[in-house]
Amino acid sequence: MSALSAPKNTVPGVSPDIYSAADFAQIAKIIYDAAGIVLPQGKAMLVYSRLAPLVRSSGTITFSRYIELIRANGAELNKAVAALTTNHTFFYREAHHFDHLRAEVRPRVIEKLRGNRPVRLWSAGCSSGEETWSILMTLLGPDRTAGLNLARADLRVLATDIAPHAVARARDAVYPASDLKPVPEDLRRAWTKESNGQVTMSDTLRSIVRFRLLNLLGDWPIQGKFDFIFCRNVMIYFDNPTQERLVKRFCEALTPSGFLYIGHSERVTGPAANDFQLVGPTIYRRRAA
Ligand SMILES: C[S@@+](CC[C@H](N)C(=O)[O-])C[C@H]1O[C@@H](n2cnc3c(N)ncnc32)[C@H](O)[C@@H]1O
Repeated sequence: MSALSAPKNTVPGVSPDIYSAADFAQIAKIIYDAAGIVLPQGKAMLVYSRLAPLVRSSGTITFSRYIELIRANGAELNKAVAALTTNHTFFYREAHHFDHLRAEVRPRVIEKLRGNRPVRLWSAGCSSGEETWSILMTLLGPDRTAGLNLARADLRVLATDIAPHAVARARDAVYPASDLKPVPEDLRRAWTKESNGQVTMSDTLRSIVRFRLLNLLGDWPIQGKFDFIFCRNVMIYFDNPTQERLVKRFCEALTPSGFLYIGHSERVTGPAANDFQLVGPTIYRRRAA
């Protein structure tokens, strides 16, 4: 063995008595089975640094005992999953989606709401809420009076994520003012309040959204169909079979001609891809049956 290479079962820099390559492999399998998140070998140190605080606070001391704990205890497993999620997000991320929403989807939404028909949308994998609020501000538009009329109609937004810490931030709906910079000024003025460098989403916006914990791999306790779904920068953490199953389920959850928005490095794949038409960069429309 060269001086630089580590013995097979070790993670460089960590005692194998505490955390070994075999521990990493078991954790990767458990997290994949629970949440679909793929953790390649290169993430061994990330797993160590994210889970070490949980190993300490649970009193298990070694990762192998912590693995026994998460196998036996669903609440602890949920904590481990949440700790291994990547929650990076920001307002108006992938601005072309919001251009499309404003120009193509908003007029249909207004027409439906004016006709007393329900409009439902889903921000799936919403993280700390920046995506959800960006969608909603875009839909309500810069004119407060017109926006309030839409808000009073049958418009509901479901926003879900697997990570409780992210959902809690989303519900709080308070962000540093600098985070709102990408949001068009007129939308910011209409739908947020700023005080002491913090921005709070208006009560109107908050009254429309339901934030829920939801594992996309599990059951979806939803009623009715969605006019559009945003699921952006979530499927990149999944493998192909999981992505394909998800695309199929999204298709089934959409109204005919409903829209699916995905992240810039993602693709709609699998048999259900035929049921979608690409209508813009990473924007898909369900083909009417
Ligand atoms: C990078 S963030 C994307 C946030 C936002 N959609 C965006 O594009 O900015 C990915 C989110 O997916 C969530 N996630 C990962 N696996 C999930 C699963 N199985 N079910 C639900 N949410 C999941 C993570 O908790 C994380 O908040």
